[in-house]
Amino acid sequence: MLASPLPENQIGHFQVRLSRVDSTNNYAANLLKSGKALSGTVILADEQTNGRGQRDTSWQSEPGMNLQFSIIWIPNGFGIQQQRFLNFAVSNALIDFLKKKNQPALIKWPNDILVLGKKIAGVLIENQIQGQDISSSIIGIGINVHQKDFGALPATSLSLLGADFQPLEEILRTFLFCLNEQMNHLTNQNFEELESAYFQNLFGFEKEIFFEWKEKTHAGKILGVDDHGKIQIAMKDEIRCFGIKEIKFLF
Ligand code: BTN
Repeated sequence: MLASPLPENQIGHFQVRLSRVDSTNNYAANLLKSGKALSGTVILADEQTNGRGQRDTSWQSEPGMNLQFSIIWIPNGFGIQQQRFLNFAVSNALIDFLKKKNQPALIKWPNDILVLGKKIAGVLIENQIQGQDISSSIIGIGINVHQKDFGALPATSLSLLGADFQPLEEILRTFLFCLNEQMNHLTNQNFEELESAYFQNLFGFEKEIFFEWKEKTHAGKILGVDDHGKIQIAMKDEIRCFGIKEIKFLF
């Protein structure tokens, strides 16, 4: 475990650097199980042999070229009804970070980060629940930085966008600065601020969008995100909330 120059109460003060691991989220889960995890620890890997994505997908990343890391967050009295605000904070931090790199990014619900329609970053948050509270959370983040070839995947990177040629370490520092700002809003319960920033950058918010549900194409307008983190969409005759595995956006 390394201690970085960041203050002790900031995310990223403690860092674990691994050259190869199955998944940094799995490593973080084991650290939590061992009872030795400190809140705010960042676990960073050059290579993941089983990087995991949302909807049971895998996360592919060329070894040593991109940022792949997980953050252990151990809150104090953070209710499960508030879990969407953690997602808002992390997504907003990625948007702020990309703004610093002059990239106009968008969020595709719940937390895919896109530039010019291509994915540049992804987030996998895994919460541990105790009663009505989130006892700990593993926030897994992948940011495409130097990789230039994604095959057929609709993905991009800072290098491909001509936006950054800095070492990964420097880029991580900039991102953690943005994340700590957003996490301060979360701990100070500035929920309205988190929500309005998230909706400002959310693809399809209050606009007509098309999506697939039960093998049919539907039109609708995104109205918000409910207490369970589901997306709320106004369709022709009704307003419905959908979970991540139920629908697929079309664009
Ligand atoms: C997604 O977009 O589907 C989520 C991707 C999350 C990838 C990151 S990389 C670091 C952390 N470890 C994992 O196994 N996954 C997350």
